Amino acid sequence: MSNDTVSSDVVHIFDTTLRDGEQSPGATLTSAEKLEIARQLKLLGVDIIEAGFPAASPDDFEAVKRIAHDVGTPDGPVICGLARAVESDIRTCWESIKVAAKPRIHTFLGTSDIHLEHQMRLTRAEAIERVREMVSLASSLCDDVEFSPMDAGRSDPDFLVNILAIAVECGATTLNIPDTVGYVMPDEYAALIAKLIRETPGAGVGSGVVWSVHCHNDLGLATANSLAGVVAGARQVEVTINGIGERAGNTSLEEVVMALHTRSSMFNLHTNIDTKQITRTSRMVSNYTGIPIQPNKAIVGANAFAHEAGIHQDGVLKEKSTYEIMTPQSVGLSASQLVLGKHSGRHALKVRLQELGYDIDDQTLKRVFAGFKEVADAKKTVTDADLQALMNDAAQGIQEYFKLLDLQVACGTMGLPTATVKVEHPDGTISVAACVGTGPVDASYQAIDSVVHMPNVLLEYSVHSITEGINALGEVTVRITPGATIEESPLTFGGYGADTDIVVASAKAYVAALNRMITALGTEGIPAEGAIATVGVGD
Ligand code: KIV
Ligand code: ZN
Repeated sequence: MSNDTVSSDVVHIFDTTLRDGEQSPGATLTSAEKLEIARQLKLLGVDIIEAGFPAASPDDFEAVKRIAHDVGTPDGPVICGLARAVESDIRTCWESIKVAAKPRIHTFLGTSDIHLEHQMRLTRAEAIERVREMVSLASSLCDDVEFSPMDAGRSDPDFLVNILAIAVECGATTLNIPDTVGYVMPDEYAALIAKLIRETPGAGVGSGVVWSVHCHNDLGLATANSLAGVVAGARQVEVTINGIGERAGNTSLEEVVMALHTRSSMFNLHTNIDTKQITRTSRMVSNYTGIPIQPNKAIVGANAFAHEAGIHQDGVLKEKSTYEIMTPQSVGLSASQLVLGKHSGRHALKVRLQELGYDIDDQTLKRVFAGFKEVADAKKTVTDADLQALMNDAAQGIQEYFKLLDLQVACGTMGLPTATVKVEHPDGTISVAACVGTGPVDASYQAIDSVVHMPNVLLEYSVHSITEGINALGEVTVRITPGATIEESPLTFGGYGADTDIVVASAKAYVAALNRMITALGTEGIPAEGAIATVGVGD
């Protein structure tokens, strides 16, 4: 993106879900999932996608390259890769993004005395020289270069002015000011941004340099700080979907965008985001990363538009604006009057899914319709949340090595919860296995393990009901790590399943996580063929 296209009333949204967001404890995405998310971010209308850290691993490199190729089209977003201020990182980054129509190199160096002294072991003068060399290298490769002085929130502001001036002199076109540890207060951050814009030679108003904010949420202030930075003159905000990221996370896209949107007469600014895609993007990221969204999360939490208190319900029924500052429809929750149930046909389902923003092909419609019928048989009305869960279930970008065909569970007060599973192997053969566990879910997982034979530790299991009522669709997310102990691997894989029966949803989620693990680690070690067998009752 050329900087002269940045008009002063547009705030550009730089999404780093696939880079800083993926640094969330426990979030590991496969390349296919990253690509799927990048496609959805393009639909959402983000201006820049930070697709990853190409030098971190060959997998990261390939994932960024694929996104640059498939999503970085001329009508698409800028595709950015992160690189330390190190020659090999910058060259590797360029190799992975150069196929994009609009590539960007984002390079960074710690500038606080704490980082310089203890991590970088550089003097301030050496840091300035490093920035001079590395930003020059980046801009010799790519026209669009972003520089971040890491831990700017705790750096000496006058030193920041000096180092940022060198970055601009050497070709940086975007200057990003990270509050890496979520330390600053909104007034303080606004004052820092204003000072830097005012005092950095070559980067003031009218220079064409874009100032950017990047905040972490350690004190719960990431959104407030980002907005304060925008008021002070920043025109790029770095965000993640659902606010995922290192420790307490990053600024959340939906909060910043909806704040600018809802209070537009105050900010007098706008974004290029199609806000109706927010809910869908949020659910996709939550399902793929296995990080659930807290119910009271602003904008995308299950309760964000729910009114519980009688006085609130009374007000909303009389006039929505009494207690609603934005409409559920504006973030992609629908207000359609079309009620879907067991008599609804494929066409009605397709129309409803299109209203929810899905561009659905016939093949996917066929799969979702089968799931829809099952849900409709179990409950009277199929809601939007049910449909979104079915879509996520159908569209997970993972290869289905093992397929759960059937599950039967016997449990109760007798103390012998037993699960029998029927699982299809990658070669098409089928195994039947039964196990006793401490409960129905444990029994199911043991039975699946006895067929799949992929050692792993279950790190997290969470279940919640998507809709109200006894017949609601239950949603399960699990997170597993390969190996026999937690210490064996830093990798984790999430899985997601939805069903009216929560034990079935649990089994689906577990098989999805196993398939994701196999997709990432390769097929070595998985049994080549299965056979009709009954394995280890009482295992
Ligand atoms: O928080 C941070 O400082 C970062 C940089 C790499 C931009 O994520
Ligand atoms: Zn960060």
